[in-house]
Formats: sequence, structure tokens, C-alpha cells
Amino acid sequence: MSQIIIQGGERLEGTLRVQGAKNSVLPILAATILHPGQTVLRGCPHLSDVEASIRILQHLGCEAQWEGEDLTVNAAPMGRWDIPDHLMREMRSSVIFLGAVLARFGWAEMSYPGGCELGPRPIDLHLSTLRRLGADLREEGGRLRCAAQQMEGREIALGIPSVGATENAILAACGAEGETVLVNAAREPEIVDLQNFLCAMGCKVRGAGSSTICIAGRQETHDATYSVMPDRIVAATWLSAVAAVGGEVELEHINYRHLSTVTAALHEAGCRISGGEGKIGLRSEGRLRAISAVRTAPYPGFPTDAQAVLMAALLRSKGATVFVENIFENRYRHVDELRRMGADISVADRVAVVTGTSELYGAPVRATDLRGGAALMVAGLAAEGETRIGDIQHIQRGYEDPVRDLRKLGAAIRLE
Ligand code: UD1
Repeated sequence: MSQIIIQGGERLEGTLRVQGAKNSVLPILAATILHPGQTVLRGCPHLSDVEASIRILQHLGCEAQWEGEDLTVNAAPMGRWDIPDHLMREMRSSVIFLGAVLARFGWAEMSYPGGCELGPRPIDLHLSTLRRLGADLREEGGRLRCAAQQMEGREIALGIPSVGATENAILAACGAEGETVLVNAAREPEIVDLQNFLCAMGCKVRGAGSSTICIAGRQETHDATYSVMPDRIVAATWLSAVAAVGGEVELEHINYRHLSTVTAALHEAGCRISGGEGKIGLRSEGRLRAISAVRTAPYPGFPTDAQAVLMAALLRSKGATVFVENIFENRYRHVDELRRMGADISVADRVAVVTGTSELYGAPVRATDLRGGAALMVAGLAAEGETRIGDIQHIQRGYEDPVRDLRKLGAAIRLE
């Protein structure tokens, strides 16, 4: 099993292009099956979660072909509506295929999804929104059997603005008769990207980015080519790394506004931030100070996915910073690993307090989940000595080639 090995302490300098967004491309890959023809995704990141989506598409009968960073999907030959258990378990986002398969076929059969261990991650909201559209969902022997041959658009209010449930509802509503209005929808930029993709292939969706989204179902679709948005969480990871260790970088292919809460936190910690069209620059002396409480919240609040990497950036800061995790119940699994490196972090329920220490040292650690693994990379870059990160398959779910990217900035990092 591969490990990432980091010799900490090297300043990071240079320019880096940010990969396409995982959380955008996964629902978009599910959405490709709404069109019985060809779609080309430009700037599609090479990730294990993307490969897992491709395996699902291929199982359903679709064709998928890479050409460099472009992925072409032909959903014309799709002939199945069932997804086997082993493919569903590969990642949590597999559940997004439910709405898309129902919209295309009116039938779907699959089991419950797998994914990162972030505490209980129910799919009750996904299922209740599909039921509201008229889908008949039954659980038999651990499998979900869904019949939805006459879905009808209507107003649906989500109990909480779940990202995945919003996406699933949008996809299913594309196959429903008439107009669906989603109220209290998630406002994440990735949902805007899904809307833009759907519109590019002929669907009618508007309002994404606000909490009310309208979908006019059963539109004629056509072949389309679409560029995936940049990954704001990968960008937050690189910014946190430079903030922690010191240096000066410019990230290209990024939407500055998507990162405003993250850059505000890093600015408060003492970094100099500059932004332009599609770019973010960050300069840090590597001596950060503690900041006011970081509370994760649905977009446009501070992203839960950036909580771990910002925490890692502040391990050597002056003073104490409070983190409050409001989205997931079990999102401090990286803390025990960071403590092995000398981090001073106390956790009580959803609150973590990070007290900066001058003695952060390299150690053998294990990635516990995707963003927790990214936090270990950030800590390893800032620590003294060698950090060996195991279980890097979690990191590979969301980072295309972190060793290549961080090396480009001058980090002493390698894969072994
Ligand atoms: C997506 C992102 C993930 C991010 C999260 C929150 C993708 C592929 N993943 O995950 O990286 O951390 O948004 O920004 O886009 N919930 C329920 N019932 C449901 C659905 C969700 O109770 O049916 C709860 C969850 O347990 C969680 C909260 O709602 O506590 C938010 O989850 P949600 O927004 O659905 O996250 P995901 O779509 O799973």
C-alpha cells in the first residue's frame, strides 16, 4: 500500500492550476444519463471517485472514454437501471444516480451508498423528495426498488438544505411532468454547476445558487460539451498549506468568490491574500495567529470540507482557535492523527479547540477520511522532520495528484 512521505519545513512558492471540482463532476456524471447521446466533460479530474462513477455508468450500459482531461460519456446504449451493491458501496455519491436513473427510465434498483465515515449520513431526504415527485420506493432485502413512471412536478420543501438531496431532486425532476419548485435548496456553487451543465444539454433549470430552484421537466436534450468548475476545497487545501509553512503562491483556475470565508479566515490569521479574475494569491510568513471561532455552515458559510485543512494550518499558530462543526457529527477523526504529530487539540462533541504549539513534528499517521487526509498533508508540510501518511486511498478520492502539485510548489514530498 502506497504512502505519502513529507519532509516538512520547505517554503512553498510558485503557481498552480487547480483541478476540476470533485463535488461538481460526480453529480454531473450521474446527470449525463439524462441525455441518450453524447456529452463531453472538459477538465474532468482523474480521481478514484470519478473512476467509481465511470464503473457505474459502464455497468448501466453507457460508454465512457478519456482523452487527456476530457471525458466523453455516451449514454445512448444505456440499458440497465440497477446498480449492484459493490458499486454502490464505493462512494456515497453513488446515491445521486437514483434520481438520474429514475428520470431516464422510470425504474431504478440499488442498495444504500458507502463513502467517508463522517458519522451517520442518512439518505432520508433524498428518498422523501423523490417520493414527493411520485416515486414508489420500497426497501426489500437491503435493496431499494423504485418505480416512478409518472413523476409529477410540484413544490417540495427540503427540511435541511442537503447538497445531495437537492441534486437528486433536480435530476429526478428533469424526468417529471411539469414544473418542480425546490424550496430550502442547498446553495453550493456545485449545484450551480450542475444546473449549468443540465441547461447546456437542453434541460430547463433555474434558480441554483439561491434557495429556490425551478425545474421544468421532460425537455428535449441534445449533445453537449461542458467545462467542470474549479475545486474550491482543493484550492482551500493548497492555501492552508502555504499559510502553515510560509511562502507565496498563486492559484489559477479558481473562483475567488467561492472561497471568501476561507480566505477571510486565512487573512485574519495573518496571510496576505490577493484575488483577480480566476486567480488567488497568498503570501504567508508561516507564523500565523489564532482567529475567531470557525463555525461550519451550508454555503455561503464556512465549508465543512475545509475545516480539517484550516485546523491543520493553525497547529503552530499563536493562541487558541475554536472550531464548531455544525454539518457532520463525526468530523474530527483527523484530530487523533494530528495529536501524534504534537498537535494540541481538545474536542468535546462538535467543538474543537486548537492551541498553537511550537513543537509540531513529523510522525507516521493514517488518513482517516478524504479531508482528514488532506489535513495530514498540510500538517506534514509545516512539521519538523518526516511525516509518513498511510491509507492514502482516502486522499486519492478527491485529490488528483497531490504529490505532483505540492512538488511543483517546492515541497519535499514523495510517494513510496
Ligand atoms: C456534500 C459533499 C460533501 C460536503 C457536504 C456538505 C458531495 C459529493 N459531497 O455531501 O463533500 O461535506 O455536501 O457540504 O457533494 N442529511 C440527512 N438526510 C439526508 C441527507 C443529508 O440528515 O437525506 C444530513 C447529513 O447527515 C449531514 C447534512 O444533512 O449532516 C448535510 O449533508 P449533505 O448536504 O447532504 O451532504 P452530502 O450531499 O452528503
